[in-house]
Amino acid sequence: MYDFTPAPGASKPEIYAALLEAAGALTADEPDAIANMANVAALLGEFLPDCNWTGFYRMVDGELVLGPFTGRPACIRIPVGVGVCGAAARGETQLVEDVHAFPGHIACDARSRSELVVPVMRDGAVIAVIDLDSPDLARFDAEDRAGIEALAALLSTRI
Ligand code: SME
Repeated sequence: MYDFTPAPGASKPEIYAALLEAAGALTADEPDAIANMANVAALLGEFLPDCNWTGFYRMVDGELVLGPFTGRPACIRIPVGVGVCGAAARGETQLVEDVHAFPGHIACDARSRSELVVPVMRDGAVIAVIDLDSPDLARFDAEDRAGIEALAALLSTRI
């Protein structure tokens, strides 16, 4: 049994330190990418408050394809350059305080108001993106960005 939960009242840096430790431990000895993304999606859902969707899109034959996640069913395929995920698929983190103000935002869940999408890179190429959605405006900040970028670096060779 795994019991990974952040300490009550933990700060964001403490939450991300615990999240990275848990993700590192869960993925260290497992070569299956889908299994590792599934467990990390679950960890993100457990550790990060006020998120309605946490998960992955994978780069498959030049487009993003839905991967393991927590939340409501989502759009399956996203072309590079389209929406927040498609923008991140070009290799740049997207931190969006108000998704309604983002040109081309794809509304998979009408509750989503802010979003953070971080590319996972391997050998200079985007292999996946980590997508977090929140029903709160401006839910994500520089600490979230740093934490998820550190997670993306950890997962570079594990998914
Ligand atoms: N909102 C995203 C689509 C993915 S869902 O949020 C899960 C976008 O604009 O790319």
